[in-house]
Amino acid sequence: MEKFIINGGKTLSGSVRVSGAKNSALKLIAASIMADSRITLKNVPKIEDVATMVEVIKTLGVKVDVDNKKSILEIDPRNIKGCEAPYELVRKMRASVLVAGPLLSKFGSVKLAIPGGCNIGSRGIDLHLKGFEAMGAENVVEHGYIYCRVKGGKTGSRLIGSDINLDFPSRGATENIMMAAVLAKGKTVINNAAQEPEIVDLANFLISMGAEIQGGGTNCITINGVKKLHGTSYSVTPDSIEAGTFITAASLCGGTVEIEDAIWKNLEMFCLKLKEAGVDIDTIGENKIVVSNSGNKLNPVCISTLPYPGFPTDLQPIAVVLLSVVPGISVVTENVFENRFMYVDELNRMGANIKIDGHHAVINGTEKLSGAPVRAFDLRAGAAMILAGLAAEGVTEVSDIYHVKRGYENFEEKLTSIGADIKIAN
Ligand code: UD1
Repeated sequence: MEKFIINGGKTLSGSVRVSGAKNSALKLIAASIMADSRITLKNVPKIEDVATMVEVIKTLGVKVDVDNKKSILEIDPRNIKGCEAPYELVRKMRASVLVAGPLLSKFGSVKLAIPGGCNIGSRGIDLHLKGFEAMGAENVVEHGYIYCRVKGGKTGSRLIGSDINLDFPSRGATENIMMAAVLAKGKTVINNAAQEPEIVDLANFLISMGAEIQGGGTNCITINGVKKLHGTSYSVTPDSIEAGTFITAASLCGGTVEIEDAIWKNLEMFCLKLKEAGVDIDTIGENKIVVSNSGNKLNPVCISTLPYPGFPTDLQPIAVVLLSVVPGISVVTENVFENRFMYVDELNRMGANIKIDGHHAVINGTEKLSGAPVRAFDLRAGAAMILAGLAAEGVTEVSDIYHVKRGYENFEEKLTSIGADIKIAN
């Protein structure tokens, strides 16, 4: 089994470029299947989750050419046949459920494997299904699958635009409903919509295919259904969670690091929290963030995760690693996923002093972490363990690294390029 081996304590410095956003690329690939001509997607990250989403749309009969060197996908959906997201792929990657909206929109029916829970919580899709129902679909659950089709219609019937009020600003539900609505008859309004930069990217991508969408990036999105969508050429927005990961690595390991393709406004709450803790962080223009080693002693802070523009839950484990070596008591509250502190026991094995009380982590900052063999529990917890290893004294071995490979392109190479001592070994 592959492991990351990290020899900690190295100062990081130099420049590193962030790849295209995983959480945008996956949705754009899913949305592509609605087009009636070819799509070119640029700045697509070379990560396992993208490979899985490509597999999902290939099983539907979509042709995909991958140019890994240029980070480009050429997608030809003209011969799409299938309407099924199979269990093996949904189990491997929950985001596979994002083909449901496009398939329902285009064909009026979809057979979707019900995703199970995952390491960060139960993660239902009830809000997605409620949205489809409001647009005239009926959902029947049988043998682990949801059969979702336009009520009373034949295959090929169209959904009907509707007003949808989300109980929670779920990203996945906002995206699935927005995609379902673009080929529906009439107007759909999504109230209490998610506002993440990736939602804006999906809206802009759909608009470039001929969709009519207003309000992407606000809590009220309006979609006027169109009859068809055409091909387009589009570049995926940079990954703000990857940017936040490098920013935190630099904050932990000293030196001056420039993070290219890091967009301050997409990460504002995170960057402001680091500033509050005393990290010397600034933006140069719109696309570069610099973390400098000013020798500042950092202060403890309190963080609460919330949907955008709040502090991103995906950066919670990564921020906890930083706070674990900041003297004093920090409190981190997780409000989005119920199970997102599973990695804390591993971090404590490296010398951190963190107690979990319900959905709060009480962190008593320690002077130093010490290297140890640890597990990656999920994608972001895995990245957090690597960061802990970079800051720790001695050698850290991080196992179950497939979680990290799901979402970080060439992570070890990028870290090595700014001075980290990290390699993959069996
Ligand atoms: C996306 C991101 C993930 C990020 C999360 C929150 C992708 C592929 N993944 O996941 O990295 O951590 O947003 O920013 O983009 N919920 C329900 N019912 C639903 C839908 C969601 O109860 O129908 C709950 C979930 O269990 C969770 C919360 O709502 O507690 C947020 O989920 P959501 O915003 O939908 O996250 P994802 O889109 O799954």
